[in-house]
Amino acid sequence: MKDKKATHFVCQLCGYQSSKWLGKCPGCDAWDSMLEEKRRDAAGPAMHAWLERDGSAAVLQPLDRIEMSDNARILTGVGEFDRVLGGGVVSGSVALIGGDPGIGKSTLLLQALNMMAAPDRKVLYVSGEESARQIKIRAERLNTLSPHVYIMAENCLETILPEAIALTPKVLVIDSIQTVYSGELQSAPGSVAQVRETSARLIVLAKNREITTFLIGHVTKDGAIAGPRVLEHMVDTVLYFEGDRGHPYRILRAVKNRFGSSNEIGVFEMKDHGLAEVLNPSELFLSQRPVDVSGSVVVPCMEGTRPLLVEIQALVSATNLAMPRRTAIGIDPQRLSLLAAVLERYMAIALYNKDIFLNVTGGVKVEEPAVDLGIAAAIASSALNRSIDTGTIFLGEVGLTGEVRGITQLEIRLKEAAKLGFRNGVVPEVNRAQMRGTLPMEVTGVTSLKEVLRMIA
Ligand code: TYD
Ligand code: MG
Repeated sequence: MKDKKATHFVCQLCGYQSSKWLGKCPGCDAWDSMLEEKRRDAAGPAMHAWLERDGSAAVLQPLDRIEMSDNARILTGVGEFDRVLGGGVVSGSVALIGGDPGIGKSTLLLQALNMMAAPDRKVLYVSGEESARQIKIRAERLNTLSPHVYIMAENCLETILPEAIALTPKVLVIDSIQTVYSGELQSAPGSVAQVRETSARLIVLAKNREITTFLIGHVTKDGAIAGPRVLEHMVDTVLYFEGDRGHPYRILRAVKNRFGSSNEIGVFEMKDHGLAEVLNPSELFLSQRPVDVSGSVVVPCMEGTRPLLVEIQALVSATNLAMPRRTAIGIDPQRLSLLAAVLERYMAIALYNKDIFLNVTGGVKVEEPAVDLGIAAAIASSALNRSIDTGTIFLGEVGLTGEVRGITQLEIRLKEAAKLGFRNGVVPEVNRAQMRGTLPMEVTGVTSLKEVLRMIA
């Protein structure tokens, strides 16, 4: 019989521990996520032993005496990547980059490493997924064959660490954290215990030796980085690389950043020779916009400090289903249901017997409420089969009584839209009333959805 005390059950999503198996994790409410693992009360000792070997010890020092290295930030040389990091990566920091398989994480990091490598700046790429030759084939394709990029195809942490310490690269990439394992642990590679332990040791290495580290992480079906969520708390920066595999566009998004804004995005296009930066994403997202059709509206949304023009498309069609469909891509479906209800109740547009499909083109996700008015206008336009003037943009949050509420950063948005040739803006009246000076375009202030509808119908 198994010694009960020797094992316990650990949730593979959030790291919750329990002495008996549970169908539903009390920590994160996930089903069937508990896995039996060898208990290791020794989690501490192994780590401490390793720390001692590494010869680091905490020292008390006054805040103002702490020495700073001169070049605290390293530019990756990939402009969009630097922007998301907040102006380059902070030396000695640890960033976690998550994304679906095949989205381009390895490609991005290899390109960035090649740019960062220099005679006095060695960089190390550790891959647990590809052989050194496979990496070389990729590097040839990307034309990133710097002699200062060192490659190591290895999964065992105990082999990686001494090599990394011997080389002391300025930048280290681990591709991926789920494939690296520590021989000191019994659990399988990729399990919570392994991911947590190996990351913890790599983070210590990064801080002690000032090695800027990028950990690549796989993403689970629900979109979280596989392994414990605690991993997100352990690192300095968490980036997600998103995009639709059917589209060439990729968006790098910061969701946590100790050294910069956490809602910055970078836009890339996957080409034959790797990722290319997209310097004017708005132009790209609008390039295939149809003219004079119903259900298409352009909205300038803010992604961090940058305005981004996206096209929202709605298709309203008759249905025989008792429960009509409400499908949204790139927008929260709850928002769609809410706006459909408001349109139905206050605008007398019959939607109860209609399916509604909503899509943000280019694979972008928009979350801010400022796009409400655009969504409502797109649905109304499709339902009434009236096209909206192609030179008009819509902005505003819509409340439950059909009122149009104010938004932030209106001027930046209008300027960006004007740059791309938009001539009319429909905006909340509260915002319009506060605007001073010459405006970048003709602006109409509205207080309720009704007024907007009059413009369409
Ligand atoms: P990859 O970086 O291996 O993705 P990840 O590490 O996130 O799993 O990217 C693989 C995809 O990118 C693959 O479908 C092929 C495509 N690709 C290009 O289109 N062009 C290129 O130059 C490269 C290297 C890959
Ligand atoms: Mg990869």
